[in-house]
Amino acid sequence: MLIWPLLLVFIALWAQNATPPAYNQPYRPQFHFSPREYWTNDPNGVVHFEGEYHLFFQYNPLGDQWGHMSWGHAVSRDLVHWQQLPVALAEKNGVMIFTGSTVIDEHNTSGFCTGGKPCMVAIYTGHTPESGARPALQTQNIAYSNDRGRTWKKYSGNPVLNLNMSDFRDPKVFWSQQSRRWVMGVSLPNDHKVRFYGSADLKRWTQISEFGPAGATDGQWECPELFELPIEGGGGATRWVLKVGLNPGALQGGSGEQYFVGQFDGTKFQNDNPASLQLWTDYGKDCYCALTFNGLPRNQRAVMIGWMDNWQYAAQLPTSPWRGQMTFPRSLSLRKTAEGLRLVQEPYEGLKRLKGPQSGTGLAAASFGDAQSFGNTDMLQTHTFLLHSEMKTGDAQQIGWRLLADSSHYTLVGYDTQRHKLFVDRTHSGLTSFSKDFPATIEAPLVLQGDTLSLDILVDRCSVEVFADGGQVTSTNLVFPPEGANGLETLAKGGRGGRISASMTEIRSIWE
Ligand code: FRU
Repeated sequence: MLIWPLLLVFIALWAQNATPPAYNQPYRPQFHFSPREYWTNDPNGVVHFEGEYHLFFQYNPLGDQWGHMSWGHAVSRDLVHWQQLPVALAEKNGVMIFTGSTVIDEHNTSGFCTGGKPCMVAIYTGHTPESGARPALQTQNIAYSNDRGRTWKKYSGNPVLNLNMSDFRDPKVFWSQQSRRWVMGVSLPNDHKVRFYGSADLKRWTQISEFGPAGATDGQWECPELFELPIEGGGGATRWVLKVGLNPGALQGGSGEQYFVGQFDGTKFQNDNPASLQLWTDYGKDCYCALTFNGLPRNQRAVMIGWMDNWQYAAQLPTSPWRGQMTFPRSLSLRKTAEGLRLVQEPYEGLKRLKGPQSGTGLAAASFGDAQSFGNTDMLQTHTFLLHSEMKTGDAQQIGWRLLADSSHYTLVGYDTQRHKLFVDRTHSGLTSFSKDFPATIEAPLVLQGDTLSLDILVDRCSVEVFADGGQVTSTNLVFPPEGANGLETLAKGGRGGRISASMTEIRSIWE
């Protein structure tokens, strides 16, 4: 009877809450998606359909460097636990499958759906590398699936959009209620423009408008996306956000993303702000080509997931057998501030399903000095936790935290009360020498409304995602601390911090 020993092994594993070895190498993210092996960059085609969330991703099925780009595939029932499936769309005849999006064709506008049921249609860039005298070619293509994304057929009439350009990529398609048609935003990277096309059937596309140049225009514009968000406390009022990736030339160097806030009438995006205004979705170094989910249930807030990495050093990250990972999904809204509407991001609420024990030593004190240690060491050893804190600035020049610390390593997450900057200092975080661009002190402008700094910090072995001031400023950064760097201490420089309350919660592995 083979079943009994197997059952016992299963029970033993379950009892230990063990992470399987395939997901337990040094630095392996425990609650962020990473492929079992090999290279990933941008999330692609993220969509909800029939109770499943689909995460497609730029994937090299043959190695841990960029190449042979295909769409990897993972599914989730709760947007938290992922199961990796076989490659959805593979490179063929030397044409790579670059970034794109997936829509649910509810009413079979494409004619691809069978059995009177909705189907999935993916819209992606086909990339033919240059060869000899022939320059590279990027065109927009479609593929469809009638079995919940398990198998895909490329459309025989591909490409559906071809401008004979070497740089023309990253189509994001959505259904526009206003103009009752499909709308595609796609990038002309070197012109710093987003082109908008409209279509009734996903096959024939006509240009309807164009946006740009505006904001930051160094480097190439990539991964554009237009989406509508509610304004917090706005009684149902909404505004549109146009997000654009920039590589290189982002605020912190290398790749990063900016956004514009405005209106969209189904045809044209109108920027509310002067073209010169630069707004950044994330002030860290490691959040790129983020994408919001299509097809979410009506009552669900917009959710976005990004590639937690930077093209400056993505190829050198000290991880194996995988390279690259996603951010934790983030729920989005817009907030009215004195300066205008700003993007707000909060960890997707499904995080609560992963919450383990809270530290018994929650901290509450009338004031705090430098290097007061805090936290439950068992919890700190796993390097997977959520640290929430509210700190009054007191008379300190800098307040915050020193985390993942041992006698010579640490990562600082803090606030400079005089310069009004949130900062993450990873210059002493551990392994940093694999790229000259990695060690950095990364700053974000943050003017506190009162004198309280509110921080939610998600730590997952090799990443620190900071949500400050209720998500109004985020800073996402990778770190590679040594094993045993389990210290967590307050930071207070040039004075004492004021009232503090903090709690720490273990975040369980999604791979258990
Ligand atoms: C952004 C990007 C996209 C492109 C993809 C290729 O990271 O350069 O513009 O489609 O990666 O892997």
